[in-house]
Amino acid sequence: MEAQSATERIAGKDDKKGPKSRIDKPRNGQEDEHPPPRLLNVAVVGVGYVGLPLALLARAKGYRVRGIDIDERKRAAVRDAAVADLDASFTEALRVQPLEVSGHFGPVRSANIVIVCVPTPVDDEHNPDLSLIEGAARRVGRNLHQGALVILESTVHPGTCDEIFIPILEKASGLRAGKDFGVAHCPERINPGDKVWTIERIPRVVGATTEKALSLAASFYRSILSASVHEMESIKEAEAVKVVENSFRDINIAFVNELAMSFSKLGIDVSHVLSGAATKPFGFLLHQPGCGVGGHCIPVDPYYLIRYAKRNGFSHRFLSLARTINEGMPAYTVSLVETGLHSLGRTLSNSSVALLGLSYKANVSDLRESPSFEIKELLESKGARVRTFDEHAPDRSTTHSLAEALDGADAAIVATAHAEFAGLPPSVFASRGVRVVVDGRNCLQKEQYLRAGILYRGIGR
Ligand SMILES: NC(=O)c1ccc[n+]([C@@H]2O[C@H](COP(=O)([O-])OP(=O)(O)OC[C@H]3O[C@@H](n4cnc5c(N)ncnc54)[C@H](O)[C@@H]3O)[C@@H](O)[C@H]2O)c1
Repeated sequence: MEAQSATERIAGKDDKKGPKSRIDKPRNGQEDEHPPPRLLNVAVVGVGYVGLPLALLARAKGYRVRGIDIDERKRAAVRDAAVADLDASFTEALRVQPLEVSGHFGPVRSANIVIVCVPTPVDDEHNPDLSLIEGAARRVGRNLHQGALVILESTVHPGTCDEIFIPILEKASGLRAGKDFGVAHCPERINPGDKVWTIERIPRVVGATTEKALSLAASFYRSILSASVHEMESIKEAEAVKVVENSFRDINIAFVNELAMSFSKLGIDVSHVLSGAATKPFGFLLHQPGCGVGGHCIPVDPYYLIRYAKRNGFSHRFLSLARTINEGMPAYTVSLVETGLHSLGRTLSNSSVALLGLSYKANVSDLRESPSFEIKELLESKGARVRTFDEHAPDRSTTHSLAEALDGADAAIVATAHAEFAGLPPSVFASRGVRVVVDGRNCLQKEQYLRAGILYRGIGR
């Protein structure tokens, strides 16, 4: 048994020189002074979009941090400070002082806090795939010691910690959660590429199995964030918070996508309407329609709730409908190209289409669940020749430049609002003979295109 548990150390118990505890502060209270507990070792399991910034932030705040990742390419990228989409200040921090990342779970043995940040995808039938969490839990468990705190940051459905994560940790370690070690869940909310809402500034929620684990976990996050930490009543409710947040986004996007498809028939520009509605200072939250919802979160997380609720006897009709609408947007986008070409007497099967943008959102290189790939497949299934271009994803682009992608294309689709595509003037397309432009992100100036005689189709405009 450890002479001093992580809780005791972070709280400064038995260590008069240790940091002042926040454990005595009232639940859900706001910030006060909390010096970082420099004695604590932190192991971060999975150094991807979520784990790496967290590891670097904790290190910058004085923790001794080591990473663990099963992917050698990821470890090499961290070693070389060559990680895509990583905030420039973190890249610089990696250059100045490399982060130790191992392929084995040895760092767990000396860690007071172990934070698991592995992916939680869905399978082909949209069933949650928790195998990476299970694998990580087994290997963490085998190396766990008494007094440690294990925090799960991955997005999961409610019940995952109690029903899956903790039983595996207990079995692999031979220890008892709540008695020998603590478990908490603090769902990550990071928004890669966001310069305003950086990891440090985003408020967090945390839930845990015991008061002690909750205090320690909340204390840890308060020591690294400049934002508030909200303590939840239970770990299950903390898990539910994250799927609710992303389901909320999915439903709202589905609503504006539905409006876009409706308004295009009614001759109303949905983007003008949404700008108007957004002037209401309360009760309306602006979301934008688009050619599809991508990324590792929004198209995935609602299924975690849908499937878990179904297993427990509830059918999420609203959420399922939102998924159906959003999953239909790539096909809708292709239909815009198809009808545009038809009106010029052409068909997709004798046309060449330039697909601009492969990543799921602007100015990042993350391709996971990106609608661009479905758009490409649909176009090709209809016989179109498709050329792709994305500066952020050169390996997946079939051309090396915008000019090469557009040369001789009959139609173009802007599928990602990267800075190099947003606001492109019509001359860029017209000069290369492109006659149909589908603006999948409503990021071009429609009026300019109409004036230039290009057949422009936006999503609902
Ligand atoms: N990407 C985001 O913007 C975002 C935002 C909020 C929450 N999340 C959630 O955070 C979790 C992680 O997502 P991510 O985007 O960081 O994924 P990622 O793929 O970028 O990184 C995960 C890392 O975990 C590693 N890994 C996988 N299994 C492992 C194991 N058993 N042991 C050690 N390492 C392992 C992978 O090699 C990878 O490097 C997911 O649950 C996701 O839903 C992601």
